[in-house]
Amino acid sequence: MIIVVANSKGGVGKSTIAVHLAGYLSEQGYSVTLADCDAQGSSSEWIAEAVPNVKAVRLTSPDEILNKLPSLGKEADFVIADGPGSDAETSRALLLRADFAIVPCKASMLEVRALAQATEVLRQSQSIRKGHPKAIIALSMVGKNYSLTRDMKDAAMKLDLPLARTAIVHRQIYADAPGQGLLVRGFGARGREAGDEIRSLFREILPKRKAKSRRASKKPTRSSKRKR
Ligand SMILES: Nc1ncnc2c1ncn2[C@@H]1O[C@H](COP(=O)(O)OP(=O)(O)O)[C@@H](O)[C@H]1O
Ligand SMILES: [Mg+2]
Repeated sequence: MIIVVANSKGGVGKSTIAVHLAGYLSEQGYSVTLADCDAQGSSSEWIAEAVPNVKAVRLTSPDEILNKLPSLGKEADFVIADGPGSDAETSRALLLRADFAIVPCKASMLEVRALAQATEVLRQSQSIRKGHPKAIIALSMVGKNYSLTRDMKDAAMKLDLPLARTAIVHRQIYADAPGQGLLVRGFGARGREAGDEIRSLFREILPKRKAKSRRASKKPTRSSKRKR
């Protein structure tokens, strides 16, 4: 399964969510590849330090994404693609290949309004691919006492995109994690709240069928050969 973390705005939490999702799935026993499709290459460096089990590859052009993503998808249980900030062609290539898209969005009315533009490429691809990739909005960097306003719910509904119930709170530890080469759970007690919330986000939004059927079978180990 190829999951892309996409929003054509920068600084909304894409890399943070992509790297933590790759780490979460690896922890569950899946083989995972992180496809870093941002020219800055920061998420591939981060995952290499934080979770060496996850294979990191950099895909630097739309052609490379269109050509290589399918075979990467066959080699691993999950490919997590970290999208770029403002490169529509790269995003388009990713959304044409992905099975599922997570769209992080900061929790303010301005950001939610800007989503119409930020998800235009997503809607083009859903229209070309008869509704694929399925997508969900995940609110990120929300204030501790934040509550979802009616306006924000309406804005998401207008885009015909579901909104995850679990939101990622703005916490210093998320900003500290890449510099330390850690996921938030790597910080021990200090990272517990963040680790719990990001895990509940993934549990909530990951397509259920796949997770269940795998978990019911024997947990694969790193060295076990995958057969499909
Ligand atoms: N929930 C959060 N709380 C605090 N800082 C965050 C959070 N999520 C991300 N950040 C920080 O905000 C900045 C942008 O996040 P990043 O994941 O790199 O976004 P993007 O990949 O969309 O550009 C980074 O410095 C990151 O460490
Ligand atoms: Mg990024």
